[in-house]
Amino acid sequence: MAIPFETDRLQLRTMKPDDLDAIYEIWGNPEVMKHCGGDSPRSRIQRSIDFYRRLQNEKGYSVYTVLLKESSFIIGVCGFNPAENEHEVELLYHFNQHYWGKGYAAEAAAACVAALRNSGLNVRKISAAVDPANPASGKVLEKIGMTAAGVKWFEDTQQEELCYEMEFT
Ligand SMILES: CC(C)(COP(=O)(O)OP(=O)(O)OC[C@H]1O[C@@H](n2cnc3c(N)ncnc32)[C@H](O)[C@@H]1OP(=O)(O)O)[C@@H](O)C(=O)NCCC(=O)NCCS
Repeated sequence: MAIPFETDRLQLRTMKPDDLDAIYEIWGNPEVMKHCGGDSPRSRIQRSIDFYRRLQNEKGYSVYTVLLKESSFIIGVCGFNPAENEHEVELLYHFNQHYWGKGYAAEAAAACVAALRNSGLNVRKISAAVDPANPASGKVLEKIGMTAAGVKWFEDTQQEELCYEMEFT
């Protein structure tokens, strides 16, 4: 994916080691992460930042830092994780609680999907899983055109989640 990329209000770029404090406010926050496998300590977030920097180099896609263009504040993370199938990726989006309800998640996720579609990478399918107790997340996926595809048991969260997908043609 060609990075950085922008929307009307947002910029998405590769994670940097200096993003740690801002990303800790997201991944280190139990309220933000309660539907997404729980919060993480700073040490694990540091390792995740390193992982996502490598992922961009190795696979050409990643989870990106999302900034507000007008202030350069870091408000979220959004992008793709590898899936079991090498032609598939999983969409992920986690935002700082202070910035919920303003349409930022859908704006960032739509931009990620468009950037991936235009990247020339050999990815054929995007998937995402949603805790049924997190309707805002399902709404984001519906807003960007993903389709409900049933229910599946997830070992990491120890629960059934709603699956969504989008296939590139
Ligand atoms: C889920 C999350 C990403 C949504 O971010 P956001 O920027 O508020 O999302 P958007 O504003 O783009 O869209 C949210 C939509 O859900 C709707 N919504 C919010 N709460 C809702 C609820 N309880 N029930 C139904 N819809 C709800 C909003 O009204 C909005 O729809 P609209 O634009 O038609 O009004 C954000 O709350 C978040 O980061 N949560 C913690 C991490 C998380 O759960 N990530 C999901 C994958 S694990």
